[in-house]
Amino acid sequence: MGELIAVLSGKGGTGKTSLCAGIAEALALQGEKVLCIDCDVGLRNLDIALGISQIGALSFQDVCSGQYGLESATRHPVYPTISFLTAPLNCPVENVDLVAFSQMLEVARSRFSYVLLDAPAGIDAGFRLAAQFADRLILVAGADPASLRDASRAADVLEEMGKTNARMIINRVNPKMMTAMGVTVDDMMDQSGLPLLGVVPEDENVIMAAVSRQPLLGYTKKGATAACRRIAKRIQGHSVPVKL
Ligand SMILES: Nc1ncnc2c1ncn2[C@@H]1O[C@H](COP(=O)(O)OP(=O)(O)O)[C@@H](O)[C@H]1O
Ligand SMILES: [Mg+2]
Repeated sequence: MGELIAVLSGKGGTGKTSLCAGIAEALALQGEKVLCIDCDVGLRNLDIALGISQIGALSFQDVCSGQYGLESATRHPVYPTISFLTAPLNCPVENVDLVAFSQMLEVARSRFSYVLLDAPAGIDAGFRLAAQFADRLILVAGADPASLRDASRAADVLEEMGKTNARMIINRVNPKMMTAMGVTVDDMMDQSGLPLLGVVPEDENVIMAAVSRQPLLGYTKKGATAACRRIAKRIQGHSVPVKL
């Protein structure tokens, strides 16, 4: 049975969508079958991060409604083991039928090794939609104290939901600045109180890949790509050292 993984944060713009795409691509390169679901109703953009914005895609609502099966989900042209469902444009998240949504996820679990749910910003309905059925929770935070505190708050909300296995990815880390400030990754873990799944450097290729409508892992092999590949291996259960 596959695993449902929610990619979350409290704060917006921490890199959830970019990392969700990068990790999905890295898992695909490891031979895994991955379904990516954009849960950011209203502000969907996982298609851009995956480099497939030019291809029309069904929404998860199209599948939840029973109109289409999961086999109709868009296949990634570069990574054929990635399937993709976008977020519906005109269905407020409060109106999503949770029974149908969880049933869709159960079917997805039987067909894919990993289902990645890209959450919207905030800790309200969209956060809960992505988190509540997930087996594994990833909180994406920036390296700054405000973002780390936000991740800690989001982890509290998850705990209230009975989810206690959240792990954090610290994104957009600038190693030179960290050295200059005398801050270590351990300090960041202490500030958030969360175990670490990975560290991703600040890397302009993340933006450049999106601008040139290409998947990150096809665009570059270093920096954020290498970090996503290490994270994917950890998700698969391999022991890979954390490095900047
Ligand atoms: N590691 C990184 N290095 C540089 N830019 C990044 C990195 N991660 C994300 N970004 C950029 O930050 C912005 C917000 O990222 P996004 O993935 O949309 O965040 P979220 O989904 O959390 O709102 C985007 O412009 C994206 O290209
Ligand atoms: Mg996003």
